[in-house]
Amino acid sequence: MICDVRLGDLGGQLTRQRCEDLLRNMPTETLLSIEAPFARGKLRVFEPTQAEVLAAAPLLATFYNDSHNSAMLTNTHQLNAAEVVESFQSLRAGGGRPFLLEQDGVLMGDADFRNVAGSEAEFAILIGSRAQQSRGLGTRYAAMMHIAALRVLGYESVYSTIIPVNIASRRMLEKLGYQLDQSLRAASFKDEEDDITMSIDWAQFKLAHTELLTQVVITARPSSPD
Ligand SMILES: CC(C)(COP(=O)(O)OP(=O)(O)OC[C@H]1O[C@@H](n2cnc3c(N)ncnc32)[C@H](O)[C@@H]1OP(=O)(O)O)[C@@H](O)C(=O)NCCC(=O)NCCS
Repeated sequence: MICDVRLGDLGGQLTRQRCEDLLRNMPTETLLSIEAPFARGKLRVFEPTQAEVLAAAPLLATFYNDSHNSAMLTNTHQLNAAEVVESFQSLRAGGGRPFLLEQDGVLMGDADFRNVAGSEAEFAILIGSRAQQSRGLGTRYAAMMHIAALRVLGYESVYSTIIPVNIASRRMLEKLGYQLDQSLRAASFKDEEDDITMSIDWAQFKLAHTELLTQVVITARPSSPD
């Protein structure tokens, strides 16, 4: 099923709103794919099948184990591919929504909604290669995922927690429309006392991403036997 918001309907019969309502009510094992153009190619953010997780795991492990990434993610030990696969499985088993990030078919990183509880979720993202960071990809992928969060996943509150030195992440979150959130609920996502917690302001998000909101294509992927 495709909700192509550029066309506004599917086959002239299904309105975008109706299409997104149908996607929202699909079984939780339905995998989403989100596509949008970018200055340097076509971006795709998608929920992987188990086979796709297995294929991506070695490169993802390399991404996680980069010293800068590991420090920003506060990972305490080096991960191997099997542990990456396990982390995807346990995230999904706990109701989370892990995604892979591609540019023109090349794996760029991963991102997820975790700690999903009703209409609340926590967001995290990694642009894996240091050479690909600070080139606009993180903001673009994150915005694509938040459009799905808004229109299909039904998350009313999305939180993100960062360490104070993670300037790139904080700036990316601000560009998305996140604001500092000092509520007890936001604080419950902290790992350390000095972590910074932010949450999305959807009105601000929509204002900041008006063009992307008209470009994104959200698709339900065929379920896989694996
Ligand atoms: C955080 C991360 C996802 C941001 O994605 P990105 O593609 O590197 O960032 P973008 O290019 O979209 O830039 C977003 C903003 O941050 C700024 N920025 C990017 N890298 C920066 C850096 N190293 N120092 C300071 N600001 C930086 C950009 O200039 C931009 O702001 P601007 O438009 O006002 O100039 C990415 O850097 C990353 O994966 N880092 C390691 C893992 C991590 O920290 N994950 C976040 C945990 S939620």
